[in-house]
Amino acid sequence: MIYFDNSATTRPYPQVIEVVKRAMESYYGNPSSLHQKGLEAENVLKQARAVAAQYLGCKPSEILFTSGGTESNNAALKGVAFQYRGRGKHIVTTSVEHPAVYDVCKQLESFGFSTTFLPVDRSGRVSVEAVKQAVKDDTILVSVMHVNNELGTIQPIAEIGQWLKQFPKTLFHVDAVQSFGKLPIRLKEWGIDLASISAHKFHGPRGIGILYKREGLIIQPLLTGGGQEGGLRSGTENIPAIAGMAKAIRILTEEGARDAANMIALTQRLRDGLSQIPGVALNSPEEGSAPHITNISFPGMKAEVILHALEERGYLVSTKSACSSKRDEPSRVLMATGMDKERALSAIRISLSRENTEQEVEQFLAAVAEVSGMSSFKKAKV
Ligand SMILES: Cc1ncc(COP(=O)(O)O)c(C=O)c1O
Repeated sequence: MIYFDNSATTRPYPQVIEVVKRAMESYYGNPSSLHQKGLEAENVLKQARAVAAQYLGCKPSEILFTSGGTESNNAALKGVAFQYRGRGKHIVTTSVEHPAVYDVCKQLESFGFSTTFLPVDRSGRVSVEAVKQAVKDDTILVSVMHVNNELGTIQPIAEIGQWLKQFPKTLFHVDAVQSFGKLPIRLKEWGIDLASISAHKFHGPRGIGILYKREGLIIQPLLTGGGQEGGLRSGTENIPAIAGMAKAIRILTEEGARDAANMIALTQRLRDGLSQIPGVALNSPEEGSAPHITNISFPGMKAEVILHALEERGYLVSTKSACSSKRDEPSRVLMATGMDKERALSAIRISLSRENTEQEVEQFLAAVAEVSGMSSFKKAKV
């Protein structure tokens, strides 16, 4: 099978699996323990934090280990909301965020906060102007994702963050889950206070991630207890997963630039090829989209039928994002771009990784042409 669902999750690198295994065998001590095994585990933790900090261009103390993107987003949004509720209760975000931000905002509304969900244009992009108009005196947080997980659209994070610098009491959170390792993230230059990262999107282990928190920023902890992670994320540290994530980051450091260039070329070839196939409509923006995600529609056909037809031919893709693909509704993200329902219901997402090859893309294009030309599928009701 050819795996084209890397935005949902990636295959862990063999070297990552090896590191996780070794850490489970050797570094089983609790980093809080004072004996040798504890110190060894603490050392692994320290090294992993340094690796992540170096990659992100921040201090090790600004790296908090979490269980992944969902937790990092929850910790950032709720952490800010509960810490600064006395200052204001307004949050600004977009209508195309991942549910791990969107639904957190909805939940915060039930606790008395109010949210402005900013609209996006046809390419799924929020305008900096809209952010400027939405921020008020009582806005405590602006949360905007770097790369959209369904469309690949890159949001104007640098411009928003630089503009927000003049309002130090309005914090800036970026869900960087889909961009980490694919695009540069300049935390300091862009005035980012908090950023979410998830290891399984870049060939690391599942269930481990990072919340970058700017030094000096105080937030309420989501999890209280033993006081690990500077009191912000209690719970005995998941050393094997943390070590595995650090290995994946090391590989990104060494090979990331080459892989990104390769992915850009492959995605370009994929899009050029798709644009030649009758019955296929490109939903991802041609300009300003991430190197790994391509969203297309087969108007008149049902996404699920296409997905299975491609699967029968050996290609694994997805409809919407993994978290919402089991629901039989059009994607909230695609509908937010003003797309009609039929086109949104026929959308599939192809997401590449460094492991995909030109040959796979060429073969996939032939399979898409075959599937889109099959009149029997056209009869499948949307
Ligand atoms: C943009 C974005 N944010 C957050 C998440 C959630 O990350 P995790 O699966 O690590 O909880 C995802 C995963 O699909 C995502 O794409």
